[in-house]
Amino acid sequence: MDIIRTTRELQERSDRDRARGQTIALVPTMGALHPGHLSLIACARERADQVWVSIFVNPTQFNDREDFEGYPRNFEADVESCRAAAVDVIFAPTPDQLYPQGADTWVEVGKIAESLCGATRPGHFRGVTTVVSKLFLAAKPHFAVFGEKDYQQVAVIRRLTRDMGFDVEIVGAPILREADGLAISSRNVRLGPAARKQAQVLLGAIRGAERAVAGGERRTAAILEGVEKTIGEAPLASIDYAELRDPVTLAEASDRLVGPCLLALAVHFAPDPDGRGSEVRLIDNRVLHPPRKLEETS
Ligand code: PAF
Repeated sequence: MDIIRTTRELQERSDRDRARGQTIALVPTMGALHPGHLSLIACARERADQVWVSIFVNPTQFNDREDFEGYPRNFEADVESCRAAAVDVIFAPTPDQLYPQGADTWVEVGKIAESLCGATRPGHFRGVTTVVSKLFLAAKPHFAVFGEKDYQQVAVIRRLTRDMGFDVEIVGAPILREADGLAISSRNVRLGPAARKQAQVLLGAIRGAERAVAGGERRTAAILEGVEKTIGEAPLASIDYAELRDPVTLAEASDRLVGPCLLALAVHFAPDPDGRGSEVRLIDNRVLHPPRKLEETS
C-alpha cells in the first residue's frame, strides 16, 4: 500500500495505472475510519482493480471552526484499517495541496444543495463539492464510492458529476447499521446510553412509513404524521427535518406519492438527563417504493 501526499504524484500514479489498463475506485473520506467506511471500501473492491482511499479533513465543509478542530483524527489507525482492507493507495494530502495559498475558487451546485442539510449548514455542500472536484482531478478515478447514509451528499455529487462532465461513475453504497438498527456513524459514540436507546426511533419511523406505504397510504401528510409521532415517542429527540422528497432532484414530494420517494430524517438527540453523552444530530433515510397494484387507502 502506498501513501501519497501530493496531487502531482497522485495524478502521475493514476496516469500510469490507467495506461496499463487498471481501473481505479476512489473512496473519499475524512478519516476516523469505521465499519461504514470499510463497507465503502468493499464496494469499491467489487468494481475496480485498485481501491484508493483519500483521507483529508476538509476545512471548507465545516460551518464552525470548533467542529473542524474537534473532528476525530487518527491517521495511524486509519492506515492500519486500510492495510487490513488491502487498499492500494492512501491519498493523504496536506491542506496546501488542495487549497494552495490564496485559494479562492469554488464549485457550487445549485438548488439540490439548498434544502435539507443544506438549509441548516450553509456553505457545507459548497465545501464538499469543491473538495470532491479537486479529488476527482487529482485521482482521476473510474469510480467514486459514497455512503447513502449521506443521501443528499450523494445526490449533490451526482449532479456535480453530470454538470461538470467528470468521467467518473458515482456509486452509492447502502447504509450499514449497528445491531440495534442505528445507521453507523462516527457520531453514535457521542450519544449517552439513554439517547442511544431512543435513537432507535429513527429506524422505527422509517419502518413505520414503509409499512404505511406498503399498506396503500399515499398521502404525504399522513406518512409524515406517522414519522413525527414515532420520533415524538423519544423524549430526548427533536426533529430538524422529516421530509418526503424526489429521490433524484430532492424536490418536495407532491401531496400524494406517485412513485419512489425519499424519506429523509435529521434528528437532534439531547444529552441524557444524568448528563452523559452530548448533543448529537443524526441523519437517516430510506427510499419508499409504493407497490403499484395495491389498493390505495384514500
Ligand atoms: O462524506 C465525507 O466524509 C466528506 O463529505 C467527503 C465526501 C470525504 C468530502 O470531504
